[in-house]
Amino acid sequence: MNLLYDNHSRPLRYLRLGVTERCNLRCFYCMPEEGLPWQNKEQILSYEEMLRLTRILSEMGIDKVRITGGEPFVRKDLLPFMQKVIDLPCVNKLSITTNGTAPLSTITEMKRMGIHAVNLSLDTLDPKRFAKITRRDEFDKVWAYYQELLNQGITTKINAVVMENQNVDDILGLCQLTLKDKVSVRFIEEMPFNGGSKAYQAIRWNYKYILGHIQKTFPQLTKMVDHSSSTSYNYRVADAPGTIGVIPAYSRSICATCDRIRLTPKGELKTCLYQNGGFSMRDFMREGASDENIKDKFLFLFGRRTRNGFESEKQKDSGSAFESMATIGG
Ligand code: 5AD
Ligand code: SF4
Repeated sequence: MNLLYDNHSRPLRYLRLGVTERCNLRCFYCMPEEGLPWQNKEQILSYEEMLRLTRILSEMGIDKVRITGGEPFVRKDLLPFMQKVIDLPCVNKLSITTNGTAPLSTITEMKRMGIHAVNLSLDTLDPKRFAKITRRDEFDKVWAYYQELLNQGITTKINAVVMENQNVDDILGLCQLTLKDKVSVRFIEEMPFNGGSKAYQAIRWNYKYILGHIQKTFPQLTKMVDHSSSTSYNYRVADAPGTIGVIPAYSRSICATCDRIRLTPKGELKTCLYQNGGFSMRDFMREGASDENIKDKFLFLFGRRTRNGFESEKQKDSGSAFESMATIGG
């Protein structure tokens, strides 16, 4: 297998592929009520273009792919596209991040194609609070999706963004799920990527604070050995089937082992989540670049990665607004 390294000797293994910025929910930490200024169809990469870039990256050493959005299932014909990604000889693992509002049949299909894992975005177990956070009344659908993922034995993670005055009362309830379900519940620090939906204030609920809060109720929490490039610090309550994790998305204490790159729905390559904009692989491709040209361009960009998310943030033009997680690709 090829090994691909960046300019800080970090191996690059993992592509997060944003297939659409559109979403049927409106989580206020992600996008404004009215949505985002959506790109038109020509501005978004076609499946053929995404598959071409993914194939080239996989030949270079990227062997894990995650489909993100927006909500990936909002894009038509997603499942056949996923099948093509899985069929790429150098891709070993394909996973997806979804809000769990798609038909349950999508789970059967994903199981059939051998999906590695499904991450479900779910910030609360209370239907009313869910409606307030996502501005849509879809809790029951998402809960049924969660149950079906477990029924089908799919590796399942729950991503919950922790927000002061919103869902901190849900933290313990979400932890409790791990006592009976084989699920990895991960609490994410809120980041500024809300597309102008709200002002962003310095967060008190950082990963240490979240962990301290959990430990008061579960003092027997034991630390697990984290995978070398894990984005979360993971714990388990005694013999519980599930695990509890915290993701320092804003504290950025995990950058030293970051093996991730992103392609946004409109084809920008981001070598860091906190990078402003990104090189347009779309334009480069549409101008007629060969596979070899594309590969060289990737190598050039991987050789200029910032050391961490703080360095990326510093390079942003001052005053430029933070994007939405949906345009970045989760
Ligand atoms: N801060 C932290 N996490 C966010 N997500 C979306 N917007 C934000 C934000 N501002 C999460 C979603 C999803 C994951 C891809 O990113 O909940 O689970
Ligand atoms: Fe949609 Fe996910 Fe953004 Fe919520 S966080 S609006 S589910 S893309």
